[in-house]
Amino acid sequence: MDIAVIGSNMVDLITYITEMPKTGETLEAPDFEIGCGGKGANQAVAAAKLGAGVMMMSKVGDDLFADNTVNNLRRYGVDTRYVEKVPGVSSGVAPIFVDRDSHNRILIIKGANNHLTPADVDRAAEQLKDCKLIILQLEIPLATVYHAIDVARRLHVPVILNPAPASRELDIAYACQCDFFMPNETELEILTGMAVDSEEHILAAGRSLLSRGLKNLIITMGHRGSVWLTGDSVHRVDAVPVQAVDTSGAGDAYIGCFAHYYVGSQDVKQAMTYASAYAAFSVRGKGTQRSYADAAQFHDFLATLHQE
Ligand code: RIB
Ligand code: NA
Repeated sequence: MDIAVIGSNMVDLITYITEMPKTGETLEAPDFEIGCGGKGANQAVAAAKLGAGVMMMSKVGDDLFADNTVNNLRRYGVDTRYVEKVPGVSSGVAPIFVDRDSHNRILIIKGANNHLTPADVDRAAEQLKDCKLIILQLEIPLATVYHAIDVARRLHVPVILNPAPASRELDIAYACQCDFFMPNETELEILTGMAVDSEEHILAAGRSLLSRGLKNLIITMGHRGSVWLTGDSVHRVDAVPVQAVDTSGAGDAYIGCFAHYYVGSQDVKQAMTYASAYAAFSVRGKGTQRSYADAAQFHDFLATLHQE
């Protein structure tokens, strides 16, 4: 196994809107899509679609979404032996609103994801030990995230922590034990309380966070690209300009792709370059996982970029 994702799955209920209704108002929206999402599952599927061996540890509810979620992961070749049903609770769902500028607003109802426990992580220790990388996000209980970091350290498995959705409660001491800490600019703003409205500000906020003892900080900045801060060095990668349709899950596409290439080469800069292109591919299509490229599609996309 290359990568273990210990994290969430959600059912994305994506409404494409022209405007948000006001209180008491009913508005018609032009389009709707239902799809498999959740930050953990999205990252797992991105890496698996590119060819990585991926194991997912997650919880689904006992509702009509559960089997669909498990089957979807299996379809992409993700190992689901640790995706379990929780009786009496609903699966995680995410009502998402995408506006005319392709920007998204996401509500999450964690449901079964709240039931992924430290004991679940312990039960998988044998399998986790053989993984080359563990990826974590914050759509499961923080106690489970912290425990997974402890277990990974003990097993000497590197960790990517994606602090999404942003939480002020996150203990940065745990983030410092991870090999990579990968927020987007909004999460960076919430973690630091600093402005992120320009690249200069993002870098200043990033440096202040890094100085708290992080090993590697990679900030994804949407159309501004991404930047890696470690020690005194800064490495920036441009975003690939594309016609954006739906940016939901683009950050997850970036992380899943980064993980796949990093595991293969240990080359952070190259993994960032690929991840940036992979995220760009995803924003051209509606939905989250369904807009991610497989290896052949990604290969073709990279070829068109090199022609330009
Ligand atoms: O990052 C995008 C994801 O956030 C969506 O798929 C949604 O499910 C929420 O978890
Ligand atoms: Na998309």
